[in-house]
Amino acid sequence: VKVRYYVDHMPVTPTLKPTASFKSHDLFNISISEFQQKIHSDVPPVTLRGYNGMSPGPTIYVVQGRRTIIHWKNDIPADSQMMPNIETIPANLSTTGIVTHLHGTYTDDYSDGLPLNTVQSGETFSAIYNNKDNPMTLFYHDHAYGITRANVYKGLSGLYIISSPFEAELNLPTGVHDVPLLIQDRILQPDNQGNVQLHYPDLWTEEWFGDTMMVNGVIWPYKNVTATKYRFRIVNGANSRFLNLFFSNKASFTVITNDQGYLQRPVVTTSILLAPAERADIIIDLCKYAGTSFELLNDAAAPYPNGSDENYHPCLSGRIALFTVSPLKDQSCRTKSFKDTLNLTKAQKSSIFGTHLSSAVRVRDLVLVQEKNGMPMIGNRNTQTGRITTHVYEEPATEIVQNGTTELWRIFNLTPDTHPMHLHMGSMKIAQRQSFDHDAFKSGKIIFTQEPKKPLGYENGAKDTIRCDANVMTSFLVKFGAQTGTYMWHCHMLEHEENMMMRPLVIVPRND
Ligand code: C2O
Ligand code: CU
Repeated sequence: VKVRYYVDHMPVTPTLKPTASFKSHDLFNISISEFQQKIHSDVPPVTLRGYNGMSPGPTIYVVQGRRTIIHWKNDIPADSQMMPNIETIPANLSTTGIVTHLHGTYTDDYSDGLPLNTVQSGETFSAIYNNKDNPMTLFYHDHAYGITRANVYKGLSGLYIISSPFEAELNLPTGVHDVPLLIQDRILQPDNQGNVQLHYPDLWTEEWFGDTMMVNGVIWPYKNVTATKYRFRIVNGANSRFLNLFFSNKASFTVITNDQGYLQRPVVTTSILLAPAERADIIIDLCKYAGTSFELLNDAAAPYPNGSDENYHPCLSGRIALFTVSPLKDQSCRTKSFKDTLNLTKAQKSSIFGTHLSSAVRVRDLVLVQEKNGMPMIGNRNTQTGRITTHVYEEPATEIVQNGTTELWRIFNLTPDTHPMHLHMGSMKIAQRQSFDHDAFKSGKIIFTQEPKKPLGYENGAKDTIRCDANVMTSFLVKFGAQTGTYMWHCHMLEHEENMMMRPLVIVPRND
């Protein structure tokens, strides 16, 4: 179904007020249900799953250090026929079980929302979030076993923002100039009854790409802005699509955060690459663009980096959104009053920043391999023999770590694609990337073929999702929190996660 570009206004997702506030925490009630919602003027409302009757779900703002309790209630009817035949879900699990994961924070394992802890229709999952993390842009999304890929696609994601009073000193744009952009790709297609819906396959597919782009739940929106500085909190919420974002007027912008908060040093650039689940807050000064219009564009290949979109659903225009800047009234730029003093030293509270390689208690070698049937899998490499073994989520954990410690993980990617690898309960810092000889590796030897590369400037911060490129070893420090229990790690391309690129991560008490 063809729809026009830039005919709908980009919505600002509403903020959720707490149901009640107590001395130590705020309480939120969120109901997960199915409903119809308009996502573009040219098509009738589509059926979605969402939170409190909207998709994306309401944005939750919290202050660092103040605890949140969220009651996530499953109000999806038990007999819902919205997604009856999802192939990746085992016959004994229902397609209406739901579990919400807050991506990028530290919680106890119950609150983490793990895939097998789904709650059924009518039940409530109450999660506690301590919000002790750095100020950052997080997102919450469904994580139900075997159906995450379809649930997120059909609407189950939303933003969660941790702020801190010290940010006020940074002179950053706030209020209407602080704009979250949750970017996702979708396909509109008539269903069997002839109603246009978001199209998603029941059968497993190696990846899934949409041919239209959605921002904050609306396809190809426009936004009217003023000639001043904006903070865009960009979240790649797509299932599999990477985004290499830039503006049609080649505007430069300053990246101030990545996944888990402020960068040590802001980075000025004209484009930024974000894999699914990666985030970045950017500051863009629209002063010199007064009275003009420009687009937000994407030119990343799908699958990334060598794919050709033609085998999938092309979004060949690369278009995402249109911004129209109002003319200046009095020839003066209001942005002069903002100082780019970004004194972020106070922001550098992330525990991973000061961590050095020498603090790693062990080195762990992991591999990403493409099995004969084309499915990418996670494996382990035996350091003595070089032998590779692969495992699925249901097999016993091989990554058993001690709480409060730091490890150095080296992921060797033998597949042809880049995979965004995500750990629950870990804060990561990229050490380096280095190409290696594929065949030698398979016969047990590590032979590097190039000099190691440092992370990109805007990757230089605390991360929870790291791009692991093909034929490259990506090494990173990962610092585990105080929590113990069973968590997980996985590829954040949702089709991969649901097909075996997912493993348990067990955190045991430190023994020293
Ligand atoms: Cu955002 Cu386990 O994922
Ligand atoms: Cu993957």
